[in-house]
Amino acid sequence: MKRNKSKPNGSSQDAAAVISASQLGQLFEDEFRDIYWAEKALVKALPKMAKAATAQSLIDAIEKHLTETEEHVQRAEEIFSILGKEPRGKKCEGMAGLIEEANSLIEDTTEGPMRDAAIISAAQKVEHYEISAYGTLRTFAKTLGLNEIVSMLEQTLEEEKMTDSSLTELAESSINVEAEGQEADE
Ligand SMILES: [Fe+2]
Ligand SMILES: [Fe+2]
Repeated sequence: MKRNKSKPNGSSQDAAAVISASQLGQLFEDEFRDIYWAEKALVKALPKMAKAATAQSLIDAIEKHLTETEEHVQRAEEIFSILGKEPRGKKCEGMAGLIEEANSLIEDTTEGPMRDAAIISAAQKVEHYEISAYGTLRTFAKTLGLNEIVSMLEQTLEEEKMTDSSLTELAESSINVEAEGQEADE
C-alpha cells in the first residue's frame, strides 16, 4: 500500500482514511474547520485593533501577530491538503463573539492608554480561545496518530502562547500602569 515516497509521515490517503474512520476523526475535522474560520476572521480583525491602538509597542505586537496569523491560515491550508480536504471553514460563533466584543470595547473607550488596556484584554481572550482550540486539536491528532499534523498544530500553539505572554508583559510593564493613572472623569 506504500506508494507515496515523498510524504514520510503517511500519504494524504492515509490521513483522509484516519479522519473518516472514527467519530473522533470527524470531530477533529469539524473543530479544525472552526479554527480555520477563526484564523481567517482574525486576519481581518487584527488590523482594526492595531489601528485603534496608541502605544507603539502594542501596535508592533499586534502587527507581528498578524503576520503569524497569516501563517496560521497557510499552515491550516497545508493540513487540509494532508487530509485531502478542501480548505473550507465553519463559522466559529465563539471567535465571532470575541471579535464583536473587541469592537465594542474599542468604541466604548477613549483613545490612549485606556483603549490600549481594553485592546490587550480583548486580544488575550482571543489568544486563550486559540490556545484551547489548538491544544485540543493537537491532542485529538495525537490520539489519531497524525504525527505530521501534531507538530504543525504545536508550532501554531507555541506562537499563540508566546503572543499571550508578550501581551501580559506589555500590560504589566506599561499600559495598565498608564491607564490606571488616568483620572476617572477624563
Ligand atoms: Fe492563530
Ligand atoms: Fe493568535
